[in-house]
Amino acid sequence: MQHPIIAPSILSADFANIQRDVEMINLTQADWFHVDIMDGVFVPNISFGFPVIKAIKQFAKKPLDVHLMIVNPERYIKDFKDAGADLLSVHYEASTHLHRTIQAIKAEGMKAGVAINPHTNVSLLKNILCDIDLVCMMSVNPGFGGQKFIENTYAKCSELKNMIIAQHSLCLIEIDGGVNEITAPKLLQHGADVLVAGNYVFTSKNPASTIASLKSLSTHTLTA
Ligand code: DX5
Ligand code: ZN
Repeated sequence: MQHPIIAPSILSADFANIQRDVEMINLTQADWFHVDIMDGVFVPNISFGFPVIKAIKQFAKKPLDVHLMIVNPERYIKDFKDAGADLLSVHYEASTHLHRTIQAIKAEGMKAGVAINPHTNVSLLKNILCDIDLVCMMSVNPGFGGQKFIENTYAKCSELKNMIIAQHSLCLIEIDGGVNEITAPKLLQHGADVLVAGNYVFTSKNPASTIASLKSLSTHTLTA
């Protein structure tokens, strides 16, 4: 039985106790730290920058999955590598020369991902799927934690999974936004591989057992 990769979103952590929360996640079955970077331009919110990523990296014992919600992300690829990113995702909607950006991320030794907004059609990824390690599919409009899941994501997820299988790509599908005990099993049935969870994990009484319950779900092997 295969299990999903679980990536708690540090956006919902307590920033006044970031070391405590990072160390708490270290002791759980979580696989990655999901780190959201917002510039106040691409999305209507500002999160944090390099010094905070470095602080997280100092204590994190799992890879940093960094999700850039910033315009012109190609300007800062080396800075994110130096801050500690292991996987770097840029938004399809924010990078004009996406193929070049992906190559630059890989040249820095990071895994490369592409994030798409809820309105962006997955067919637009057809010519980049074999070059990337992950698609971060937004299931809420990016900018804030704790928003309501957009139901259309299930159909988009299946459609993307079929494209990945048809191309024999190894690209993972990550779902970001509104993941909880109701949406997670359905997302896995539709081909999701990675579940980001912020609000659901950090507002729960026992984050470790919430993460364990997500991790215990099984992924579904779909064939084209
Ligand atoms: C939203 C971020 C998400 C967010 C998910 O723009 O990209 O990673 O933290 O939050 P939840 O799980 O609370 O919906
Ligand atoms: Zn995110």
